[in-house]
Amino acid sequence: MQQRRIGDRSVSAIGLGGMPMSIEGRPDEARSIRTIHAALDAGVTVIDTADAYHLDPTDVGHNELLIAKALRLAGKGPDDVLVATKGGHRRPGDGSWYVQGGADYLKKACEASLQRLDVEAIGLYQFHRPDPEVPYEESVGAIRDLLDEGKILLAGISNANPEQIRLAQEVLGGRLVSVQNQFSPAFRSSEPELELCAELGIAFLPWSPLGGISRAGDLGGRHAAFAEVAAERGVSPQQVCLAWELAKSDVVIPIPGASRPESITDSVRAAELELSAEELARLDG
Ligand SMILES: NC(=O)c1ccc[n+]([C@@H]2O[C@H](COP(=O)([O-])OP(=O)(O)OC[C@H]3O[C@@H](n4cnc5c(N)ncnc54)[C@H](OP(=O)(O)O)[C@@H]3O)[C@@H](O)[C@H]2O)c1
Repeated sequence: MQQRRIGDRSVSAIGLGGMPMSIEGRPDEARSIRTIHAALDAGVTVIDTADAYHLDPTDVGHNELLIAKALRLAGKGPDDVLVATKGGHRRPGDGSWYVQGGADYLKKACEASLQRLDVEAIGLYQFHRPDPEVPYEESVGAIRDLLDEGKILLAGISNANPEQIRLAQEVLGGRLVSVQNQFSPAFRSSEPELELCAELGIAFLPWSPLGGISRAGDLGGRHAAFAEVAAERGVSPQQVCLAWELAKSDVVIPIPGASRPESITDSVRAAELELSAEELARLDG
């Protein structure tokens, strides 16, 4: 599998997003474990998760526990797979999400993630989403402290605008390694953040890279150019989509979600699909 970089780590160009295995509509544990193992077998070495990928407050960290279990069963450790988790988002249990970005809360959340992932230090810890009630410097300052204390090895942010990316880079003393923002054929407004990451050499992880859980299956029906290129190449529209994202810059590492082994096995093939300039122009249009 093609490799890309997150800080000093070399990882697979396509990662696995864990969310569909832990929120509404999630499969049973056996299918989730098979899905994670299919990703590992296909060469995936970066898995995205969050403490908030769960159903209700009794279930916090469901996805982190699942990933830790799947890795343990596969005999894989932190040197083999970069687990990228997040803190700062919460779910009350009614399907909604809210933010909590105070420094004390983030430090406690990180400690709990450490326990669930059963590691000495978290591979990549990302501040999930800015909290309008808390100065951004305070939230990112907590991430800086976690880095300094060795609780996390790499620091990232998510759902950030260009100003917040620059501020985070300053607060972290140049140690910001990743930005995770929404980016897909249907949601292209993160282009400025993607370009800034390319300029600064920071990994850019598109979230919902196929348009999100409920739309990903019909990507070709929603975006004709992707269906056309896919038909010409004899591959899935989802592969074309991920290859188009990879071609934007070598800092891009899409993290397609999956709850079935077949989905992630198909998605990883995008890393070997090289689109021509003419095809990319059609997809951009
Ligand atoms: N930072 C944030 O605020 C934030 C927000 C949302 C998501 N995320 C992260 O980003 C990850 C990806 O986003 P997402 O899961 O919301 O949406 P997505 O990746 O756009 O779509 C996920 C869905 O795509 C389907 N799929 C994947 N590969 C496929 C293929 N090759 N062919 C057909 N269908 C395919 C999967 O179906 P099956 O379930 O049937 O396998 C899955 O449910 C999440 O898992 C999460 O880790 C982060």
